Amino acid sequence: MTEQSPLFGVYGAPPREVIEPVAGAVQFSPLVPGAERLEDLAEGALAGITLLAPPGTVERRYAMALSLKALSPEGRMTIAAPKDKGGSRLRKELETFGCTVGEDSRRHHRICVVRKPAAPQGLGQAIADGAPRFHEGLNAWTQPGVFSWDRVDPGSALLAKTMGPLAGKGADFGAGVGFLSKTALASPKFESLLLIDSDRRAVEAARRNVEDPRATILWGDVRTAVIESRSLDFVIMNPPFHDGGAEDKQLGQAFIRRAADVLRRSGTLWLVANRHLPYEKVLAEVFKTAPSRADTGGYKVFEARK
Ligand SMILES: C[S@@+](CC[C@H](N)C(=O)[O-])C[C@H]1O[C@@H](n2cnc3c(N)ncnc32)[C@H](O)[C@@H]1O
Repeated sequence: MTEQSPLFGVYGAPPREVIEPVAGAVQFSPLVPGAERLEDLAEGALAGITLLAPPGTVERRYAMALSLKALSPEGRMTIAAPKDKGGSRLRKELETFGCTVGEDSRRHHRICVVRKPAAPQGLGQAIADGAPRFHEGLNAWTQPGVFSWDRVDPGSALLAKTMGPLAGKGADFGAGVGFLSKTALASPKFESLLLIDSDRRAVEAARRNVEDPRATILWGDVRTAVIESRSLDFVIMNPPFHDGGAEDKQLGQAFIRRAADVLRRSGTLWLVANRHLPYEKVLAEVFKTAPSRADTGGYKVFEARK
């Protein structure tokens, strides 16, 4: 009989100069396509875990509670967060779970180390608070931590109002829980729609929200997902402009380039963005025309044609 090697986990991509995960640690962040789910671990299955704590309080407590629950009695959790993104609250939050906390600081991060408490407290509540749920106001499934998880984003609302009924084959890049896709699928002229998002929680919610035989829902990265070039009639998107918490204009620009790549000739990209984001130049580079179709409330909508 072979003995199973202990399971070590990592959540997100902690900066190496702050904390170093165990070599060969298994990834558990919902933001990394293909990662394992903390939710699926048996109690006691995890020998140790290193987390870059998510910035939202409910989401962070959920990840910490799931990790503590999955730790073996001797298991150790190391968790870091930038001081201004939850780091200064880590210690108190861990103490509410009954943990004895060792704390350190490095490179603007707070780092806490805990062992699994003999009698953890409040894990069930933190897990329930962060779990997927049906939100009456949204009329949709959602989960704390996903983009605009408890309200329709005003930019997406503007795009939904501005784009007319679409026809043919399309994709929703960074589809979130499926708000734009649901609007688009209201058109009977629609043949197929590919929804892609890199957040597993959003994808799981979208699978419940968009029950339509024309829809395919993919957990993946828009920049690298397999989509045939020049195969689509349209792409819709409210592209992300944050990566790992910092503003990243290049991410949205990469989404625009990918849209141009997968659209057939005369195919259309419907895009909404915050006014301050610099997308005009890349739109002009990779599309024939890109007139503005709305500009209000801090958002701009473009209809770009290839
Ligand atoms: C601004 S939100 C828009 C969400 C949704 N379309 C809406 O209108 O509510 C951008 C979405 O892109 C996703 N995202 C971020 N980086 C991504 C990537 N590299 N590939 C795919 N999706 C990504 C985020 O998880 C987020 O759901």
